[in-house]
Amino acid sequence: MRVHILLGAPGSGKGTQAKRLVDRFSLTHLSTGDILRDAVSKGTELGLRVKALMAEGKLVDDDTVNGLVFARLQDETQDVLFDGYPRTQAQAQALQDFLSKKHVGLGSVVEVDVPREVLEARVVGRRVCSNNACGAIYHLESKPSKQAGVCDVCGSPLKHRSDDTAEAFRARMGEFDSTYQPLKAFYADRPTYLSVNGNRHPDEVFATLETPFKEHA
Ligand code: AP5
Repeated sequence: MRVHILLGAPGSGKGTQAKRLVDRFSLTHLSTGDILRDAVSKGTELGLRVKALMAEGKLVDDDTVNGLVFARLQDETQDVLFDGYPRTQAQAQALQDFLSKKHVGLGSVVEVDVPREVLEARVVGRRVCSNNACGAIYHLESKPSKQAGVCDVCGSPLKHRSDDTAEAFRARMGEFDSTYQPLKAFYADRPTYLSVNGNRHPDEVFATLETPFKEHA
């Protein structure tokens, strides 16, 4: 087993590319955002604790997120693709320590780089499938569903994430700005690190990252 990482700002296209990579390389997709949203929608103790924080666009504390991730990795045998984790240098260090202890290798680390002026419109216009098992991602303008408000893949209603408002987006970018450079520096010297231009059609973004990703899969 190896772990691969997608890095990038809110709305940069991590989830969109993750779905393609998972299909292409038979990976386990581990999105901490999805795990936390699932907890919120089920009203678990964790969900109740993080609901307001997430809606406001703030990060959940490192210990909580690391605990969720390490529990999932414990019995995993397939290669894993992280989407939205690690998010801070402390998370990156904790993950590295965990992987070293378990003798698990780090595969590709891919940054999806998108100019910030593009991001808000992507996030505010995003709609996602309400069926967590599906999770298909749409956009009102760049990727509308065939029937308004209905998922093309599974027919479930689409929803607007509570943190996909302009206000929450700005808070999320504030968190990103205060954490991203040290996180990126943690990985940028590694031979398996790659930064791709995410400000192109999703097919082009995928075409750029597919081959280098395969080399480290
Ligand atoms: P999370 O769910 O991880 O959100 P995020 O990182 O802010 O990323 P997004 O899901 O917003 O965007 P994305 O990059 O996946 O873009 P997507 O492909 O959907 O985290 C949410 C919250 O959970 C956090 O704020 C925090 O509270 C908590 N959390 C999660 N992980 C945590 C952690 N590790 N530590 C602490 N707290 C944590 O695309 C966006 C839109 O753009 C879509 O509409 C899509 O159709 C469109 N699009 C995608 N690619 C393109 C393209 N190439 N061209 C045009 N449009 C595109």
